[in-house]
Amino acid sequence: MKILVIGSGGREHALVWKLRQSPLVKEVYCAPGNAGIGQLALCVPLKPTDIKGLLKFAKEETIDLTVVGSERPLVEGIVDAFEERGYKIFGPSKAAARLEGSKVFSKNFMERHRIPTARYRSFEASAIDQAKKYINTIEPPLVVKADGLAAGKGVLICKSRQDAAAALDEIILQKAFGSAGNQIVIEEFLDGEEASLFVLTDGERYALLASAQDHKRILDGDLGKNTGGMGAYAPAPIVTHELLQTVVEKIVRPTLDGMRQDGMPYRGCLYIGLMMTQDGPKVLEYNCRFGDPETQVVVPLIDGDLAEIFLAIAEHRLDASTVRVHSAAAVCVVMASHGYPDEYQTGKQIFGLENIKAEDGVVVFHAGTKTEGNAAVTSGGRVLGVTAIGFTNELEQTIRNAYRAVEKITFDGAYYRSDIGKKALKHLRPQ
Ligand code: AMP
Ligand code: GLY
Repeated sequence: MKILVIGSGGREHALVWKLRQSPLVKEVYCAPGNAGIGQLALCVPLKPTDIKGLLKFAKEETIDLTVVGSERPLVEGIVDAFEERGYKIFGPSKAAARLEGSKVFSKNFMERHRIPTARYRSFEASAIDQAKKYINTIEPPLVVKADGLAAGKGVLICKSRQDAAAALDEIILQKAFGSAGNQIVIEEFLDGEEASLFVLTDGERYALLASAQDHKRILDGDLGKNTGGMGAYAPAPIVTHELLQTVVEKIVRPTLDGMRQDGMPYRGCLYIGLMMTQDGPKVLEYNCRFGDPETQVVVPLIDGDLAEIFLAIAEHRLDASTVRVHSAAAVCVVMASHGYPDEYQTGKQIFGLENIKAEDGVVVFHAGTKTEGNAAVTSGGRVLGVTAIGFTNELEQTIRNAYRAVEKITFDGAYYRSDIGKKALKHLRPQ
């Protein structure tokens, strides 16, 4: 099988790495890829949103299966474009990808199907006065969200009503997120701990992957600015067996059934962002793709042939029993460029990658890197995802293993959090 993976981050590196292990796979291509991916796949200089170019490439290279990493091409309809021309592709249709592409759509969907989520109302940009009145009816803190895709930045948590009014001005009048702010959602703030759950589904049958937790803030102790994610671990002990049953019954099944009933069966990977509240698990958001960095810990724990699983989903014939999950732990520590998530420099040579050995249970997934001459150099804010895969579910040891590997890698200005996984240990060993 010839597979084309679309994207260039740690998520795509982890997918390429796992797909490469399949005996069914002869060749992997990645558009556009990065320095690390380039060691496992042939990198093709095409942008993920260049749907026409990607289709042409799939035709010329007789690609058997395309796997889409990031949300934008999905929301823009890459799956429909490929399927109309008879090409197999893993991911949701344009209609189904609205679960991520439009927050108004996803909130209305949850309300219609009684899926637990934060109370909300949505408004057109032209109804800013009504939106401001609505703010006065709910207790702060409250959350203001731009409807469309905003590279993870369209959610503003507001401590006061004044802040919320300013957030509305920012989104609607100043158009901080462009047309993504043509509609907005205002919702209640949910308190609790977050977890991510990935569901692989062909629209009817589904399999759950290991639960995971991301670390969104730049500084230790979950302080400082929001980032794309500074590290992750799986499984997340906060998602107990019992809670998972509740999530399946109240969230996973009603979501998949609801999408089918509404005439847009969801196929691909559904990412459910959960808040574990005192009233039980609630949906914070849906994403129409794998999450990053969570994929870097969840995918290595899959005990199964990912190429066969993706192909089965693309052909609507998933056998959920082929998706097993190792009872082990995985921890990913993101090494970032100094200054990230604000300004940072690139082009710094990365040293020490040759010291990391798979037999020690560590894999380094590349995010923002490129090849210059024979060297890998930094090319983004998040540079590497140093991932330790435990042979047992001993999380503490796996965390130590990840950090031991991080210490062997250097580049000018390398920054990482030193507390990835600490939150989980607290749950495993309650004080
Ligand atoms: P979203 O893109 O909707 O997931 O929001 C991004 C992040 O904002 C989530 O991962 C949460 O950390 C936070 N968030 C979103 N909605 C809420 C909410 N209703 N209450 C608390 N935090 C939220
Ligand atoms: N880890 C968050 C995301 O992928 O959206």
